[in-house]
Amino acid sequence: MQKTMRAIYLTAPKQFEVREVPMPEIKNEKEVLVKVHAVGVCGSDLAAWRGEHPDVTMPSIPGHEVAGEVIACGSAVSRVRVGDHVVRENIDYCGKCYACRHGRPNVCKDLKVMGFAAPGGHAEYFVCDESKLFAYDPDISYETASMAEPYTIAAEVSDRAEITDGDYVLIYGLGPAGMSIGDWAKAQGAHVIASDMVPKRIEMAKAFGFDYVFNGKEVNVAEEIMKITDGEGVNVIIDAAGAPAILDNAIDILSPFGRIVPVAFNFKPSPVVYAKINLKEARISGSRLQAGKFPVVVEALKRHEEHIKAQITHVYPMERIAEAYETAASRDPEVGKVVVTYC
Ligand SMILES: NC(=O)c1ccc[n+]([C@@H]2O[C@H](COP(=O)([O-])OP(=O)(O)OC[C@H]3O[C@@H](n4cnc5c(N)ncnc54)[C@H](O)[C@@H]3O)[C@@H](O)[C@H]2O)c1
Ligand SMILES: [Zn+2]
Ligand SMILES: [Zn+2]
Repeated sequence: MQKTMRAIYLTAPKQFEVREVPMPEIKNEKEVLVKVHAVGVCGSDLAAWRGEHPDVTMPSIPGHEVAGEVIACGSAVSRVRVGDHVVRENIDYCGKCYACRHGRPNVCKDLKVMGFAAPGGHAEYFVCDESKLFAYDPDISYETASMAEPYTIAAEVSDRAEITDGDYVLIYGLGPAGMSIGDWAKAQGAHVIASDMVPKRIEMAKAFGFDYVFNGKEVNVAEEIMKITDGEGVNVIIDAAGAPAILDNAIDILSPFGRIVPVAFNFKPSPVVYAKINLKEARISGSRLQAGKFPVVVEALKRHEEHIKAQITHVYPMERIAEAYETAASRDPEVGKVVVTYC
């Protein structure tokens, strides 16, 4: 086996450098060597690239949406085999703090997310513990599988919102987050209502079978909600846009016993009238990353394959990573998901 591999470092804001580094080695019997094939680029990666992510200290290897192939296994590995196509869980946690003890390692007090506080996936190979790897149907391309991680976010949001069959779910924002959350909610049997302003995204949501898709610039979404739900309000509101004021009066269009999940990282304050939360017995549930959602997403990947493929608009080889990030950051409405491949 070769002695070195190529790894991509962010060395300064918007500056990538390809470095020749030692091949990672299996050092204990539970570790696995994986050859990376595809890494998705998402909004948080762009924050790191701009130098605006608080957890990133450069130089660092970015990337957290990773799919690859198992090349070698330690002697005690049983979850995966050489040749398996795998995706990698992107969080490291202490296992001891309050959140970890309660099954929420995604908000561990010492959380380290791959590509931010921990080395990321933009390297030809990596070694990790077998517990982080999930094998998937190899008929699915590596590019498609790299979107397993964003779909785990959707699955987590769905759980946090307790979405069940027949619920009316309103999603603001049809970027990769809102689109996958809607796609997942539809698969749970929900009626999905969504709002965005980008025609291409609106068209895609309709093509995915979302029940009502509005252009938020053209219609009053709150009024439409009341018409659709006979004045009862939606059962779930998800903010995957993060624009100011979206959640300001959300409680007023929420049904009694409804749930609000503020998925977007919007740090602007929004007024909450707690009495209204009591009166409706409403809940506001945060949702961050995912806890234990890789198995369910990997199992569902084939069913979401066509919708995932439709979201991937640009694929670049690793040598062109700078272009991949520029494209992802362009805000061009024609740009959906961008994926970087390794051969
Ligand atoms: N909680 C988590 O674990 C988690 C995970 C992934 C992403 N996120 C966050 O989710 C948010 C969305 O991520 P993304 O990658 O889809 O971003 P994105 O910027 O691609 O998409 C946001 C969408 O919202 C639309 N939008 C803006 N204002 C709107 C409004 N007033 N009404 C309706 N739509 C509006 C935009 O047109 C855009 O299509 C980001 O804040 C991101 O950081 C959170
Ligand atoms: Zn991501
Ligand atoms: Zn912990």
